[in-house]
Amino acid sequence: MEVIIRSGADAATDLVARIIAKELRANPNLVLGLATGRTMESVYAQLVRRHREEKLDFSLCRTFNLDEYVGLPGRDRHSYRHYMNHHLFQQVNIDLRNTHLPDGMAADLDAECARYEQVIAKSGGIDLQLLGIGRAGHLGFNEPLSALRSRTRVKALSPATLTQNAPLFDDSTKMPRRAITMGVGTILESRRCLLLATGEEKADIIAKAVEGPITAMISATALQLHSRCTVVVDETAGSQLQGADYYRWIFDNEPEWEEFR
Ligand code: GLP
Repeated sequence: MEVIIRSGADAATDLVARIIAKELRANPNLVLGLATGRTMESVYAQLVRRHREEKLDFSLCRTFNLDEYVGLPGRDRHSYRHYMNHHLFQQVNIDLRNTHLPDGMAADLDAECARYEQVIAKSGGIDLQLLGIGRAGHLGFNEPLSALRSRTRVKALSPATLTQNAPLFDDSTKMPRRAITMGVGTILESRRCLLLATGEEKADIIAKAVEGPITAMISATALQLHSRCTVVVDETAGSQLQGADYYRWIFDNEPEWEEFR
């Protein structure tokens, strides 16, 4: 794992967008894992800007989102399909047929989960998985006690997640109580993971995810098992990291990061 601490949220977001852009330019057929949430909105805004100003090309890229609410059709503006269409897909030259999210309206949800895993496998696996982190440390909707080897499945949302995401719904009583999410095991199979967290409210959980013991109670701790995981934070989200000085030293001295400094 590598941890990169940037001075502010804009600098952290910009770095994440630059890493994605570099991977996409190196491999136009990139299989990109995507995330939703407030933090990701600025990443997608950066990618859209790079598409417009720098001709960043998404035409051959395939995408797989981490999760989707159960019971929301893609046209519902609270669905993650709607979020992705709005923030990224409709604003770049991606072929919508190459964009995948689990279908939360499927009649047979277990079959849908199995199908999703198969489509990922048929695409050759995920090259780069973008990740946010919930305040309780979930990746996707891998709520506390999600098995570290779990696969795509239906999860009941925890009270903490319901509280965290309720403000995003016009009527929070209509918020779905379940979601389909890639499993922790599915996420760990991606060839590279890139986690972005910004803001004071993520400081405690980032310290636990990066430096705490690996536990199924906090699915983000499983990233410590990944062979190529980059965690990008701003100063506030990184403010409780014990090893901050060491992580800064690595970033300042590691040749791989030279072009990003
Ligand atoms: C939701 C998503 C997660 C995301 C989290 C953080 O729970 N399922 O994938 O990481 O929100 O969201 P935010 O960036 O709004 O803090």
